[in-house]
Amino acid sequence: MKEQLAKIEREALEAITGAENPAALEELRVRYLGKKGELTAVLKQMGKLSAQDRPAMGALANEVRSVLEETIELTSQKLAAAALDLKMKAEALDVTIPGQEAALGHKHPMYIALDEIKDIFVGMGFTVLDGPEVELASYNFDKLNAEEGHPSRDWSDTFYFDADSRVMLRSQTSPMQVRAMETMPLPIRIVAPGRVYRKDEVDATHSPMFHQVEGMVIDKNVTMADLKGTLNLLAEQLFGAGTVTRFRPHHFPFTEPSCEMDVQCHKCGGAGCPTCKGEGWIEILGAGMIHPNVLRMSGIDPEIWSGWAFGMGLERTAMRRFKISDLRLIFENDVRFLEQF
Ligand code: PHE
Repeated sequence: MKEQLAKIEREALEAITGAENPAALEELRVRYLGKKGELTAVLKQMGKLSAQDRPAMGALANEVRSVLEETIELTSQKLAAAALDLKMKAEALDVTIPGQEAALGHKHPMYIALDEIKDIFVGMGFTVLDGPEVELASYNFDKLNAEEGHPSRDWSDTFYFDADSRVMLRSQTSPMQVRAMETMPLPIRIVAPGRVYRKDEVDATHSPMFHQVEGMVIDKNVTMADLKGTLNLLAEQLFGAGTVTRFRPHHFPFTEPSCEMDVQCHKCGGAGCPTCKGEGWIEILGAGMIHPNVLRMSGIDPEIWSGWAFGMGLERTAMRRFKISDLRLIFENDVRFLEQF
């Protein structure tokens, strides 16, 4: 039996140390140490030994078992290390090879300006709203106090979808005033940026599609002084401290009184140049106190509530903000131009 054990040990050690992969190793473990393994088979014969020989033989068998177990464990570790080594070599990464540069775009100057505008108003507690570009004429005109026959409703100015002039591409963001009044609890403070459409020829200051930012406040005791204070703050934050603005009387059907706000031309500082068409000022928005009719039509009592609204041209604002002289540059998307901002 002693020789049997020695033989098993010799053979097993040779086989185990020569195992080429974990599966082969596992096979050997079963073959020698498993329930039906060779070593176990020898141990089963122990009963035949004399009581005298049994302890010594038992000790020997246990020793062989633990030698084999240790060797299997060591071999298993070696195989794992070798496998990892191989994997590392196969997946080796040369960090010195120059990478492929991902060309990252960046924000369009007009959206940079828009984000600044949103930040300024959000900082004053306004909510930013989004609304439909395909709009009902009732929202774009009727509920804004622009009755049938108003010149802005003319077919030569407005893109209608139907013969009865009921569905249209919105010509202003002002319908968002009505949508806010109809759906939001009072008091209301909103800004609503978006695209608007008018039948204009393209030139340095016109495009059939452009962007506006509508703003509106409705609360108790709101006055024109609040409107001017807010818009002057906007101009200073957007264009820098000391920016000069001017308010001119104007007319809109949905505000009374109404005004337009100009900022001094960035190109000539007010002297007059091609960018400001010789006027020294650039008009960037229309505004005014919301007409009582408009409040009433949306179910708000003008005896209790008052409010103001403005509609700002976003392209013009971005042009003033970034000193861009031609509106067409904003839409051409020439990367050489856009990369400057
Ligand atoms: N909607 C007007 C325009 O497009 C601007 C405006 C908005 C005027 C809000 C007054 C109040 O010209």
